[in-house]
Formats: sequence, structure tokens, C-alpha cells
Amino acid sequence: MSKNQWSSKLGFILAAAGSAIGLGAIWKLPYVAGTNGGGAFFFIYLIFLVFLGAPLLLSEFMIGRKAQKEAISAYKSIAPNTYWHWIGILGVGTSIILLSFYSVVGGWVVNYFLRSLTGNLSGLGVEEYQRLFGTIISDPIQAIAAHLLFILLTIMIVQGGVQKGIERATRIMMPILFILFIVLVVRSLTLEGALEGVRFILLPNFSEVTSETFLFALGQAFFSLSLGISTMVTYSSYLPKGESLPRSVASVVGLTILISLLAGLAIFPAVFAFGFEPTEGPSLIFSVLPAVFNEMAFGSLFFVCFLALLLFATLTSSISLLEIIVASLTKGRNEERKKKAWTAGLVIFILGIPSALSFGLLDAFFLFDRTFFDLLDYLVSNFLLPLGALCIAIFVGKKLTQEELYNEMTQGSRISSSIFKLWFFLIRFVVPTAIFIVIVQALGIF
Ligand code: PHE
Repeated sequence: MSKNQWSSKLGFILAAAGSAIGLGAIWKLPYVAGTNGGGAFFFIYLIFLVFLGAPLLLSEFMIGRKAQKEAISAYKSIAPNTYWHWIGILGVGTSIILLSFYSVVGGWVVNYFLRSLTGNLSGLGVEEYQRLFGTIISDPIQAIAAHLLFILLTIMIVQGGVQKGIERATRIMMPILFILFIVLVVRSLTLEGALEGVRFILLPNFSEVTSETFLFALGQAFFSLSLGISTMVTYSSYLPKGESLPRSVASVVGLTILISLLAGLAIFPAVFAFGFEPTEGPSLIFSVLPAVFNEMAFGSLFFVCFLALLLFATLTSSISLLEIIVASLTKGRNEERKKKAWTAGLVIFILGIPSALSFGLLDAFFLFDRTFFDLLDYLVSNFLLPLGALCIAIFVGKKLTQEELYNEMTQGSRISSSIFKLWFFLIRFVVPTAIFIVIVQALGIF
């Protein structure tokens, strides 16, 4: 195969879903929902996923498939001799920052997984899990070594080209991850005191909603769907013409909603049943989930499987982040792929070191009231992703004619013109306005 391409339509959907489903919906969503009021946050997040996320995802897919080029060149080829390709540059820059702290959390998963293999993780009490996790993230050697290990795994997959390995693996691993999550939800829901957790996450209490809630929900929706940094532009450029993009969007958004619900229902009932605080923060799933597995028959075995799958889901996301960077550096020259993947990966490793130390050595070092890790996450999730998404919505609405858009959307799919009109209305008016208002409100500009 001379050109980078997915081997099948399913391969593309799986890779896009693999990019979307990862630490965002499984680790970040529960802790951000927990610290932002629970149900109301979750509700707003779901609304944003459907009405802002889905139309934007379709836009990124359309740009990528139309241009058949990676993130930066795609904008150049659609709008030559303009500044629009800065959207791609912003995307690549944001990916570098995002991956630098994403990999720190990926490292925690690696650490847990290795420990679970040796049976070190089972049979502890609830507080012991909290303490163990505290040690894992605060010990500088462990934090940095695990971060390095995670980046190395990501580099090793990306250097060979993402299409080869991940399609087949995703096809098997994703369904098992979903099944295991369902098992987890059932166990969690049958714990004593579980109902309070269900109420917490499913019953919105709008009296607690502030403009920050909207900002966090927006950032979370974009983070979960890998939007705003043109990852999905790069992925869909590997898609041959003639596949149905709207159907792919429905699959990716549908799966992301499903995993978000499963994560919420697996974690919050247990949080309340075991007396954890929903506001615990980044450590939430790492201290709660082991306690749930502890309550199951064959719990330690299930836990090993779960961690392997979580690691896999995390890697399919980090791969997409490194891929957009490498693709923008190589521009299809595959002979340079290996070198660029290693260089970019190692730079990102170094950039991530302060984040890795943010829970130990540097935990008292605050910039703008936040640790290094929190600051990068806040900046990326709540400003850079929405900013990128805003630019993409404006780009699509302004730089492509309605006819071009209609042709792109209907290529490979039979979409009625009313769906097209609805999408166009959303992307042209609703999406930019909503993003603008949320950001401006949260910054307190007006
Ligand atoms: N969506 C991924 C996750 O939820 C993270 C991600 C964001 C990946 C942006 C690529 C681009 O884990």
C-alpha cells in the first residue's frame, strides 16, 4: 500500500472510536463530574456531546476526507494561501501539551496493571488503596518511569504506522471492555447504599450550576470525542472516498455516550457505598474501582483484565495524539516516520516530567493557583480544545460552500437534505455561538 489508508470502513470507525474512548470518558469524566456537582454536569455534558460534539466531529471528518491530507496540509489544500492552516498548527501544538500530561495518567494505568499481574493489588482495604495510589503518584521515580514506559509503548505503535496493528486489536478489545464495564456496573449497583450514587450522577440538581460548570462540560465533551485539535481530520484523511461519514459519527458519538454512562454508573454507586468523596479528584477511579473488584468473585482476575483493557483504550487514544504530530512532520513520507515518532515522543516525555511530579515533589508548586498538571489540563480542555473547535466550525461554515459540504456529506451515504440543513444550521450558528458564550461567560468578560 503506497498511501496510508485504513483497510476497511470498520477499521476507521474502530480507530476513531479508539481515539475517542480513553481516559477522557473513563478517568476524567467521573472526577470532573464529581467535582462539578454530578448530575447537572453530566446532563450538560451529554447535551454538548450530541449538539456540539457530533456536528463538529462530522466537520473534522469532512475536512480530512475531502483533503486526504494530515491536519496542517488539509487546511492548506482547502484554503490555499490563507492563514486557516493555523488551526492545524494549533491542533498539533495542543496535541503535544495534551499528550505530555495524558501520558502521566497512562503511566498510572501501566503501574497498576503491572502490580495487578503480580497479585499486589488485591485484598486491600479501601483506605489502603487510597494510600497505595498516593504512593504511586507521588514517588518521583515511579511516576517518571511509568510515564516513560507509557510514551515508549505509544511510540512503538506509531512508528510502524497506526493502521497495521490497531484495527485488528481494537475489534477484539473494545467489545470486551464494554462487557467488563457492564459486569462492573452490575456489581457496583448491587452494593449497599448504591442508590445514592445513581441519584448523584443521574438526577441533575441545577441549582449548583455555574458558568464554570458549562465550561468544564464543554471541555469534557471535546476531550472525550478527541475534538478541536484536528486528530479526527488526520484519521479521516486515511479514509478512502465513498464511506458514509454521518454513520461513522453516529457510531463514535453513540459509543462515547455509552462508555460515559457505564463509567458513571460503575463509579458513583461505589463511591457512595464505600464512603469515598465524589470530589476526590484525579485519583477517584484509581481508589474506587479496586475496591469494587475486591467485592467480586474472581475479583483480582477481573481486575487484571480490566486494567489491560483500560491500558489498551488509553493507548488507542495516545496513539491518535502522537499520530497527528508525526503525520504533520512526515506529510506522508513514511521513511521518516520512525525517526519523527521517536523525536516527538521523547520531547513529549521531557515536557511531561513536571506534570508527572505534580503529585509529589512539585505538589506545592502552584502557577495561577494550580499545579503544573492541573494547569495544563485546564488550559487544554477548557480553552485550547474549545478554541480549536470554534475555529473549525467557522472554517467549515465560511470556507466551504454549501454545495461542497452537501456533496461531501452525501458521498457514500443517503442523507436527506433536511439532515444536512440541520447540521449546517448547527455548525454555522449554534456551535460557534455556544462555544463563544461559554468561554466568554467563564472568563467573566461580560
Ligand atoms: N478522547 C481521548 C480520551 O478520551 C483523548 C484525546 C483528546 C485524544 C483529543 C485525541 C485528541 O481519552
